[in-house]
Amino acid sequence: MAYRADPMRGFPPIADVLNASCEPELAAAAHFAALTGREASHVVYAPGRVNLIGEHTDYNGGYVLPMAIDRGIYVAARVVSQPRVRLWSVELGGGPVEFPIGGGLEAGEPSWSNYVRGVVAGMQAAGAEVPGFDAVIDATLPLGGGVSSSAALEVATATLCEELSGLRMGPEAKALLCQRAEHEFAGVPCGIMDQFAVVMGRAGNLLLIDCLTRETRHVPMAGGEVAVLVINTMVKHALNDGGYRARRDDCHEAARIMGVPDLRRASAELLESSRERMLPRLYRRARHVVTEDVRTLAAVRALEAGAWPELGRLMGESHVSLRNDFEVSCAELDAVVAAAGAVGPDGGVYGCRMTGGGFGGCCVALVDAGRDEEIAARVASAYQSATGIDPVCFVTRPSDGPLVLMKP
Ligand code: GLA
Repeated sequence: MAYRADPMRGFPPIADVLNASCEPELAAAAHFAALTGREASHVVYAPGRVNLIGEHTDYNGGYVLPMAIDRGIYVAARVVSQPRVRLWSVELGGGPVEFPIGGGLEAGEPSWSNYVRGVVAGMQAAGAEVPGFDAVIDATLPLGGGVSSSAALEVATATLCEELSGLRMGPEAKALLCQRAEHEFAGVPCGIMDQFAVVMGRAGNLLLIDCLTRETRHVPMAGGEVAVLVINTMVKHALNDGGYRARRDDCHEAARIMGVPDLRRASAELLESSRERMLPRLYRRARHVVTEDVRTLAAVRALEAGAWPELGRLMGESHVSLRNDFEVSCAELDAVVAAAGAVGPDGGVYGCRMTGGGFGGCCVALVDAGRDEEIAARVASAYQSATGIDPVCFVTRPSDGPLVLMKP
């Protein structure tokens, strides 16, 4: 399975290897060999995620229902004798990015390297003796497109550090370490959903997370009746970072006014009786979170019953609430939802909504598995007509978490 040098001719041309459309782990190993001139000793993988429902609830102690997808980040690596890391990103090019790992690690440029820097720092703080290494990062999912490529890179890096140092983390500790890297090195005040979904992904299952207690439960997606269609709007609005933080602040302020530690502990009644004491904006933010928690638990029941129209209806309501009350949608996400809505249940679309932080990125749709390709083509064409942008669509399924694909 390793990408090996021919003793007579050296490494085969990388294009030959990749043109044969090889497995992604082989491609990662081939890229490693081409960029470093040596063979990779390890290839690790971590998936991206989509969230079926439960959006902007994780940092409010609420419920979320994400799943790991069958696309992710591959990292091919090899230990070096010096205490430093060198990184290449195949998709982003440039590089290598180099940083020492002997002393205190700090954030630096380019920004994507901070996911690696932060996780290496976290593993060291947890007591891991992480040796220097070269690593080449390859992706089979859109980067910065709302399917948690950053969490995938963090979790892949943590998995690599576990292999190289021998220190194994439990799933929750590993996910929290990766979340901390995102907070402290990437400067994104995210909740726990993405890292939990990536670390704890299980084929065939959604992951219900109670973000207050951090309890998790795998919920099977029964049968092969439905498929999950991801539609990437291909836009990312600049509002993203500031907008996310501002929503978090709004939620905390609304909870403070109601005298509860977080919005999870605000009932619909408390919210209504506090309405006069809040700015209309704060009321709407809180209404999204309070109603989204109710929808998410209802979605779990619908999923368990295989009640696809009901699950799809809840997804649609979630989108409306995110658009009107939480104001994190955008014209392009709304255009996808409208295009999917036009196909409708008769055409095999049960429901569609934005997924992830919003302001661009991806939508997720629950569709009839027998018609998934045809639906993707119809939604893509309607979106293209409405916006002039070609979306990227892919069908996915609930998948496993991180994997070590190659080691000595
Ligand atoms: C981003 C964050 C998550 C979560 C979602 C919104 O993906 O990383 O923690 O808050 O937005 O649900």
